[in-house]
This record gives sequence, C-alpha cells and structure tokens, in this order.
Amino acid sequence: MNLSPNRTGWREELGPETRRLLDEDADCFLHQSLSTPCLDVLESCSGSTLTDLDGREFLDFHGNSVHQVGYANPRVLDAVRRQLETLAFSPRRFTNRPAVDLARKLGELAPGDLDKVLFAPGGTSAVGMALKLARKATGRFKTVSMWDSFHGASLDAISVGGEALFRSGIGPLLPGAEHVPPAEHTAASGTPAETAPPVISGAPNTSTTCWKKRATSPAFWPSRCAAPR
Ligand SMILES: Cc1ncc(COP(=O)(O)O)c(C=O)c1O
Repeated sequence: MNLSPNRTGWREELGPETRRLLDEDADCFLHQSLSTPCLDVLESCSGSTLTDLDGREFLDFHGNSVHQVGYANPRVLDAVRRQLETLAFSPRRFTNRPAVDLARKLGELAPGDLDKVLFAPGGTSAVGMALKLARKATGRFKTVSMWDSFHGASLDAISVGGEALFRSGIGPLLPGAEHVPPAEHTAASGTPAETAPPVISGAPNTSTTCWKKRATSPAFWPSRCAAPR
C-alpha cells in the first residue's frame, strides 16, 4: 500500500466517479507492491498522452512496451487487427509466418551469432526464462546483479532483483543470487570505475535510490538492502 501524504493529497483533486472507481478497484484487485491505491482512472490514450476520466491529460514517460511506438499507433492497430482476424492464437507445436518473420528479423539485428529467438509474454518471464537457459547452457547457477535493481515481481525475478520491498518477508529466494552495489556507488566511494565489480544484469531503480542517500561504504549494502526500508 502507498498511503504517503503525496498520494493522499493527489486523491483529493480527483472527481467523485474517479474516486468511486478507485475504491472499487482497491476492493477487488491485488496490484503489485506500492501500486495500491491506484493513482487515477484512465479513459483513453493516444500518442504519448494518457487521458483520465476527468479529462486530465498526462504525458507518459513510462508506458511499458508502448511508449516506443506511441499509444494507438495506426500501423500497430492495423497489424494487430488484421492478425486477430486471421490467426489470433497459435497453439504450441504450431508455427506461423509472422512469428517466423519476426524471429528472423530479430536474429538479424542481434549482434554476433545470436540468431535464435525465444518469445516471452513479458519482462518478468523473460528474466525467468533467461535464468533457466543460462543454467542449462553453463551447468552453473550463480548470478550477479545489482542491489536496488528491478527485474519483475515473480519469485525468480525478485531473487536476482535488489529491491528490499519486493524481497522481504517472502521466505528463501533462489540460491546463488549474489548482489553488488551499482557502479555509480562504487565510483562515488572512490573505487576507480575500471576496477568496479562487473555488473552482469540489473536496471537501477532510480525511484528507490537508497545508495545515493544513505550508503557510505560497501558494507552497507547486504544488510540495508535485504531489509525493508
Ligand atoms: C528492467 C525491468 N525488468 C523487468 C520488468 C518486468 O516486466 P513485466 O512487467 O513485463 O513483467 C520491468 C518492468 O518494469 C523492468 O523495468
């Protein structure tokens, strides 16, 4: 739950129907950590703009998977519509021309000999699938990722993820998931960038910058970042 004064103050600006829907949402939905209560109720979207029930417009800088092409992009809408009408689902053990064409194109764009594609329904599953593939390919299981990084909210993704809020109170996580401070902390503490530990994965979550505010030595990391903040 996010019941911060800012979130509470924001709600006071919303119209009665929006507040009623938000209450109904909180009653019947479980959202990811920190997303309840939701901010607002959206009505529509176009380009980089989201519009809420009260007609307020937001410029979307986030919009996972959508902001690259813009909302309601006519070419995407047309392609999705045509595909839904022709072949809406391709059961496992079958393939189809658009899927092969996309896989081929991605393989051509990828560097080196990375020419095989495995599609995932979202970022979290992609991380889980990558962990399994890496284990199979190497016969090893240890990973290195950054404290405070976000990889998704599933059990395997929070194991390699570094956000305390997602990791705490959930029991044992994947074995061998090692964490290092983000490179910028290491640089700030005086360690030259070239001798900083190699960072294998992880996107620092700038909304929870505990290293910037509080870390003074690398010893800070394991204890502070494993506990809820
Ligand atoms: C770096 C990163 N990894 C993984 C995810 C999880 O992706 P998804 O929500 O598609 O499962 C996100 C989502 O914001 C992300 O930013």
